[in-house]
Amino acid sequence: MSGNLPGGRLLGGKIVAGCLAPHPPHLVYAENPPQNEARSECGWETLRWGYESLRANLDRLAYDVLVILSPHWRTYVGTHVLACPQFKGLSVDPIFPHLFRYNYDMKVDVDLAKAIARQGQDAGLEMKLMQNQDFRVDYGTIVSGHLLNPKWDKPIVGISSNAAAAYFNVDVMQENMIRLGQATRKAIEASGKRAVVVASNSLSHRHFTKEPPVPEDMSYEHIAHHGQYLWDMKMIELMKQGRSRDLISLIPDFTEQAASETDSGALTWMLSALDFPSKPAKVHAYGTVIGTGNAIVEWSEL
Ligand SMILES: [Fe+2]
Repeated sequence: MSGNLPGGRLLGGKIVAGCLAPHPPHLVYAENPPQNEARSECGWETLRWGYESLRANLDRLAYDVLVILSPHWRTYVGTHVLACPQFKGLSVDPIFPHLFRYNYDMKVDVDLAKAIARQGQDAGLEMKLMQNQDFRVDYGTIVSGHLLNPKWDKPIVGISSNAAAAYFNVDVMQENMIRLGQATRKAIEASGKRAVVVASNSLSHRHFTKEPPVPEDMSYEHIAHHGQYLWDMKMIELMKQGRSRDLISLIPDFTEQAASETDSGALTWMLSALDFPSKPAKVHAYGTVIGTGNAIVEWSEL
């Protein structure tokens, strides 16, 4: 990964993995890291052990940067990209403030952030750099970033979720996110860096409306209902079979019927950045968090 091309482009930039890496704050709460103020006894082990297994694989891939698209940074005009060298603050989950009060301190790969924004613009997308030092980073970016690299010793690029699915419809979202994925790939390839692209979304997303007295009491935890489970299994089966184009074509129906966070475009963007892999994905775990369906999945050379 060295040497320059005319125009300052670097050789050897590559997406070394794509991950589906959902962001339930419960998983951070259950691990009791020093950054989080809330304390737990345990909980959601299947998913947490899945993240352990994914982290071990990512370490073997020796990546330089995590590029994360989060459903919880919603932007109604275009796509925004974090573009200050560092963001630091306290993130409090709006729904679960008793579980997640997290002191974050993250480095951003500003050069790559700007390159992705430029490539997006060239592809006809509305792009904006987030250069407000005091901007509060959303908890989706933080939770997925923490679970993939709790030491935060590598930079990230944070990409917003343009709300095209709500503002227009899922088909407009898909078209835009396919273009953004292609733009992201071009920017990474020209950067000389080894990047992991991360879709920070759950699959089915029906929540319980009441929490058990002890949030980590796993005797209460199960999928919201069987229909949601069937949808999740359908999507995961397509991932395991390497049928990412078929998966993309089902996203409009899946998003509507499973209330899925795929409405954010994260999964569509990530699979497009990987150029719709036909290699079977590795599913590290599937589990529920307060009724929602969550899969931890890896697409890589390993
Ligand atoms: Fe979420």
